[in-house]
Amino acid sequence: MKCIKTSLFAFTALLTISCTSQKENASLKDAYKDDFYIGTALSADQIEQKDQKEDSLIRKEFNAITAENIMKSMYTHPQKDKYDFALSDKFVEYGEKNKMFIHGHTLIWHSQLAPWMEKIADSTEMKAFMKDHITTIVSKYKGRIDSWDVVNEALNEDGTLRQSVFLKTLGEKYLVDAFKLAAKADPKAELYYNDYNIEEPAKRAGAIALIKKIKAEGGKVDGVGIQGHWRLQSPSLEEIEKSILEYSALGVKVAFTELDITVLPNPWDLKGADVNQNFEGSAKMNPYPKALPDSIQNKLAERYASIFKLFLKHKDKISRVTFWGVHDGQSWLNGWPIKGRTNYPLPFDKQLQHKPAYESILQLKESKQ
Ligand code: XIL
Repeated sequence: MKCIKTSLFAFTALLTISCTSQKENASLKDAYKDDFYIGTALSADQIEQKDQKEDSLIRKEFNAITAENIMKSMYTHPQKDKYDFALSDKFVEYGEKNKMFIHGHTLIWHSQLAPWMEKIADSTEMKAFMKDHITTIVSKYKGRIDSWDVVNEALNEDGTLRQSVFLKTLGEKYLVDAFKLAAKADPKAELYYNDYNIEEPAKRAGAIALIKKIKAEGGKVDGVGIQGHWRLQSPSLEEIEKSILEYSALGVKVAFTELDITVLPNPWDLKGADVNQNFEGSAKMNPYPKALPDSIQNKLAERYASIFKLFLKHKDKISRVTFWGVHDGQSWLNGWPIKGRTNYPLPFDKQLQHKPAYESILQLKESKQ
């Protein structure tokens, strides 16, 4: 809401109080309720509601959740004949209790696999694994998990298919098979292909070809998840916009599934989010160990504002925008691609306070009311 300025002192004071309290009640999910879901990624502790303050923040600000780690195959399917759903059950219950949109991350991904899966070397065994894995997990949460990242990160930067254990054993047919198995297990769940850097032209072309192929072969793809592990200067708004338009022209929804914006230098200009890449640390690579200078804080706020302005322009094509973590203290970017750094990529700081980035995202909506 707009706060009207008045010269009357008492009235001004009253208005200030009412503006402040209105602002305190404001939240990302309410501000964007008519546009798209505003999601966050939950750690195991957050799913278990270990910290009451974090928990109220999550429930106040977000209406969609993704598990940051606990639904990856190394946790849900640690041995061939053993599944562990203790935490994913809690995750789903938490989402249901709070009427949140629940996203499943992820079914088929080459990273964070259980060690036994990495040893699968022949096609018969891999086929059996995929069928059992996808069917068991998706059926278990049928009607309760709203959407799934069926396949995560199947592409190389040049748009060709990644030589993953799945491609090596099954060839590219594994892609359509994964989507068919997921659709069979829960026909109503929305099925996504999710990846990083797929707003970049070459990789985007690869993702478009991949989605077209899966659909042509009878797979159901409802959406594309652009992870959105971005930087202050890149990717450009033009490439993001082109991506929204080109993906939605395929008849799929566009989600931004893991949004965060690093403010730290990138080793060798690394782009992307390959969790297997790691680099040596140095003071030069960790310039803000104590606090973020205002100049960078403002740049981050401006960057978030311009990104959300673009998202709002295309809200009819966007289903969900999920931040990769609740607050800076939790962000994986403190440990990747260099361990032990202090990064500031999210709208909340590690004390759970709003950052200027938060205000700038909210402001885009307030100025319209
Ligand atoms: C990251 C988690 O945030 C970290 O805690 C974990 O150590 C590695 O994985 N792309 C994805 C996410 O799809 O699952 C990754 O999450 C980040 C990159």
